[in-house]
Amino acid sequence: MPTWFDVLRREIKQSTCVVIDADRAASVASRLSPLARDLGFPDIAHLCLAMMGPRRAQIHRAVVDAMMINETSFFRDRLPFDEFRCKIMPQLLAARAASRSLRIWSAACATGQEAYSLAMMFDEEARLFSGWSIEILATDVSQSAIETARAGVYNQFQVQRGLPVSQLLRYFTRANDTWTIAEHMKSRVRFEQRNILENAPSTGSFDVICCRNLMYYFDSEGKKALLKRLHEALAPGGFLLLGATETPLGVSDEFAVSSHHPWLSARKLDRAQSQNMRPQLRLVRG
Ligand SMILES: C[S@@+](CC[C@H](N)C(=O)[O-])C[C@H]1O[C@@H](n2cnc3c(N)ncnc32)[C@H](O)[C@@H]1O
Repeated sequence: MPTWFDVLRREIKQSTCVVIDADRAASVASRLSPLARDLGFPDIAHLCLAMMGPRRAQIHRAVVDAMMINETSFFRDRLPFDEFRCKIMPQLLAARAASRSLRIWSAACATGQEAYSLAMMFDEEARLFSGWSIEILATDVSQSAIETARAGVYNQFQVQRGLPVSQLLRYFTRANDTWTIAEHMKSRVRFEQRNILENAPSTGSFDVICCRNLMYYFDSEGKKALLKRLHEALAPGGFLLLGATETPLGVSDEFAVSSHHPWLSARKLDRAQSQNMRPQLRLVRG
């Protein structure tokens, strides 16, 4: 007889690919107890069973929302953003000079700090991109995270993490204990609630995808499925930025990785390139 925890782990993995470690029952229980109470269930077991009942869609969404770890910060890890500005931007400026258009996808954007960091970077480089169309799409499976991202309101702790004071003062206004991002920055980013595994926003069309600190939560099968999805969504020669503990090495041979930082950025290889290069390690010098 499966326990509530077995049901929960199975449902979350099936819908999001996120693996909940088997020893986390106690911490998960404390996370879900308030939700069970708010939705009128006597306990977590009834809440988890309801994930398969007639109100399945609504309960499922609420449980997924409560279970996701939306940990993020502005310019998280800094280095990938420096890589983006100093190495990726110049290559894109040259590669897309004819179309003068760029599409960026912050996949699994949590509460939006990553997408707004990208928007601030493009704003600071506005002179280089004068006359260009720059589209930034930001998506996450968590509806509440997307609502927070859309509102663009952050507390003191959140803006202190990673955001230099000069950018805070330039792009945010303060009201009591909160900071709201400027309207012209909000309008640069489109936020959508999306499960990355269910429906890619579009095929083969993003020049850069930031999918950072998501793969970490997946098992090897989930990582393969994720990289396949991201490869499909990237334009030829497009760049993929992953989290500091993540790399396509050993999971997918459809990306070329930086020789000095295998996790920092990866470049989409087309099918012929990846077949030619197999089984060697593909290196892209930055
Ligand atoms: C740890 S946060 C990473 C946020 C940001 N990318 C960063 O690196 O700071 C992971 C995010 O992935 C989202 N997530 C988990 N599974 C997902 C899925 N299947 N589709 C889309 N987003 C997902 C979670 O809701 C959470 O906001």
